[in-house]
Amino acid sequence: MYLKKLELKNYRNYIHVNLNFDKNTILILGNNGNGKTNLLESIYYLSTGRSHRTYGQDEIINWESDYSKVKALIGSEKEDEPDCFIEIELHKGNNIKIKVDKIIRRKKSDFISILPSVIFSPDDLKIVKSGPMERRNFLDSILEKIDPSYYRQRLQYQKILTQRSSLIKSLNTRTGAVCNSTLDVWDDNLVKYGVDIIKKRYDLLTEFAADFKNCISSFFKGVKVNINYIFSWDRGYGSDGLADYENKKNPVMESFGPDDIMTIFHRELKESFKKDLLYKTTTIGPHRDDFMILLDSRNIRYFGSQGQQRIASISLRLCELDILKKKIKKDPVLLLDDVFSELDIERKKILVKAVSDKFQTFVTTTNISYLDKLDLEFGSKFLIKDNRIAVSDL
Ligand SMILES: Nc1ncnc2c1ncn2[C@@H]1O[C@H](COP(=O)(O)OP(=O)(O)OP(=O)(O)O)[C@@H](O)[C@H]1O
Ligand SMILES: [Mg+2]
Repeated sequence: MYLKKLELKNYRNYIHVNLNFDKNTILILGNNGNGKTNLLESIYYLSTGRSHRTYGQDEIINWESDYSKVKALIGSEKEDEPDCFIEIELHKGNNIKIKVDKIIRRKKSDFISILPSVIFSPDDLKIVKSGPMERRNFLDSILEKIDPSYYRQRLQYQKILTQRSSLIKSLNTRTGAVCNSTLDVWDDNLVKYGVDIIKKRYDLLTEFAADFKNCISSFFKGVKVNINYIFSWDRGYGSDGLADYENKKNPVMESFGPDDIMTIFHRELKESFKKDLLYKTTTIGPHRDDFMILLDSRNIRYFGSQGQQRIASISLRLCELDILKKKIKKDPVLLLDDVFSELDIERKKILVKAVSDKFQTFVTTTNISYLDKLDLEFGSKFLIKDNRIAVSDL
């Protein structure tokens, strides 16, 4: 799929822009703070129903306005498939109106995934450097794109988790007495809904682990790479360092069946009851899972250089691209937001080789000085200045 036309009204710094694109590599050039990321964000929003950099929908609306519109015409690579017209109107207070081919739709799920996309953003460094939540979000965002039931499963799990944790809190603060049958119900439900989430994340990581290792190795020759799933019960409370991982009780098995996970999850949940009372929360479950990247047996999160961490985050996105290609059988749009700036020329070339495919690709940059050294052909070029975007013949 690819984006043929995009119209933005009151979207962040854009009061009104109307753009036409071809299915090729598109350059977006502009100085800092001119709106390059905002433009890619709007395309990502069309694709996923969410921004890649904020949870608050109202933030997207121009400060001087109380509504925002994103309209898009999506083309297909299949000749017999008609274009699709998406119209999204956002109003302050988290209100959204959706039309697909002029027909009003109620749910975001009616437009998300029409235009699959993968975004490479400077913020991706967080996946590697920040806490486990960022890594879980990375896996979840892929699963949501390839498995329509996953989002609902997570919501369901979250609800049960909140209820179990409230019960634990009340036990601790009131009498300390345990109503075993009530807790058992929440434990059973937590395991029932949590197992699928763990299994799906674990399988996803296992599926792209080999690709990931190859990918990093193409950037850094001779480096030994490992990527491992870490179950909540293998993490120490409040820390997730290498020591915890090495001392873990359940070594990663080659293939984990849902029954194995269910048995361990149940056992660990029961065993951690006292700890849960102490910390007034639920310490076991997929909401505390993580994964770890090791370069030459050291956790990249703590010991990797900024460049190595950047390459690891780019490699994760390249794996996402491969998984999407395999699973959804539609061409995704690639959004490369300022990804080249931190890489040396050799690694810029490797990245270009990895992404220059048959997909529509948007590349943003603040300077073009290095572009002619790369084997990157731009079909069209746009210059952003003073909140306006114009076709450029740079
Ligand atoms: N809701 C909003 N309404 C109006 N302007 C906004 C809104 N949100 C952000 N902005 C403005 O958009 C501009 C930032 O745009 P953006 O992040 O897309 O820039 P950029 O071109 O990617 O810059 P850089 O090269 O530094 O990454 C900022 O000047 C910011 O103040
Ligand atoms: Mg930017």
